Amino acid sequence: MKHILIVGAGGQIGSELTVYLRSIYGNNNVVATDMRDCPALAADGPFEQLDALNTEAVASVVKRYKIDAIFNLVALLSATGEKNPQLAWKINIGALMNALEIARENNCAVFTPSSIGAFGPTTPKDMTPQDTIMQPTTMYGVCKVTGEMLGNYYYQRFGVDARSVRFPGIISNVTLPGGGTTDYAVEIYYEAIKTGKFVCPVPSDVYMDMIYMPDALRACVELMEADPAKLVHRNSFNIASMSFTPEIIYAELKKRMPEFTMTYDVDPVKKAIAESWPNKLDDSCARAEWGWKPEWDLSSMTDDMLEKVRIKLGK
Ligand code: SER
Repeated sequence: MKHILIVGAGGQIGSELTVYLRSIYGNNNVVATDMRDCPALAADGPFEQLDALNTEAVASVVKRYKIDAIFNLVALLSATGEKNPQLAWKINIGALMNALEIARENNCAVFTPSSIGAFGPTTPKDMTPQDTIMQPTTMYGVCKVTGEMLGNYYYQRFGVDARSVRFPGIISNVTLPGGGTTDYAVEIYYEAIKTGKFVCPVPSDVYMDMIYMPDALRACVELMEADPAKLVHRNSFNIASMSFTPEIIYAELKKRMPEFTMTYDVDPVKKAIAESWPNKLDDSCARAEWGWKPEWDLSSMTDDMLEKVRIKLGK
C-alpha cells in the first residue's frame, strides 16, 4: 500500500484509522473522505468531502491521487439498520459495490470490515468457528454476509485483492460509535466519569466479543500487509480479543470507581440482536494465516479508557 483512500473517514473507525495510517505511510499518502466536513482530518493531510454512493466522485479521487488501496468504512450499524433496513442496504452495499467496482477498474486492494453481526442465532455460540453457519437476523448482518461474499467474488472473478476481518464491538475514546448494539461498552466509560451512573440497554448476562481500538487498527494494517500466499481465507477473518457481559465490564469499573452504579432499561431490539450474536469467536485462522494476536484485555483497556476519557471530558 502506497497511496490509500479511506471512505467514511469521519466515523468511529475512520477517525482513528486515518491518523494511524498517516503515521505509517505518510500524511500525504492517505486521502480521507467523508460526506461530512472533517476539519481534524483535513488539517493533517488530503481530505475530500464526498458521498460514498457517488461513483464518479469516488473514482475521480482514486485517479487523482493514484490510489492503490481503498478502505471502505461506510456503514449504518445494527440497531439503526433495524429502524430503516432499506436505507441500511442502500448505504452499506452501495458503498461497498462502489469500492469494489472502482478497485477493479483501477487495480486497487480493498479492505472493508465485516462483523460479529454477520452471525445469527443458528451459529455455534462458543468458540464460533471461522467457517460456519451464517444466517443473521438483522439487515446489518445480511449486508455483512453479502459483503463477505462480494469480496471473495471480486477476488476470484476479477483478481481484486479484497480482504476483511469480522470485527467485534470496537471500544474507543476518540469518536463515539452510533446505532450499534455494542455501543453500551463505550458509553459506560463516559457515563461512569460524567455522572457516576449508567443505564444499560443490553441484558446483564449477554456475552459479546469486544476489541480495543489500538488492536483493531493494527489488525487492519497487518491483514492488508500480510503475504497473500499465506492467506487461505480472505473475506472475512474471525478476530477475537475479549468477551464480556454488561455485569463483567461493570465489575471492572466498580473496582476502580466503587461509587459507580449501573441499572438496566433493556432495549428489546438490542436485546434480540445481542442474543443472536456469538459469545466468543475462534480466531485461530487469523492467528495462523497472518499472525493476528491481540495486545489489550479488559483490565488494561479499562485503565486506558478511564485515563483518556477523563482527559477528554476535563474530569
Ligand atoms: N458494533 C457493531 C454493532 O453493534 C457490530 O459490528 O452494530
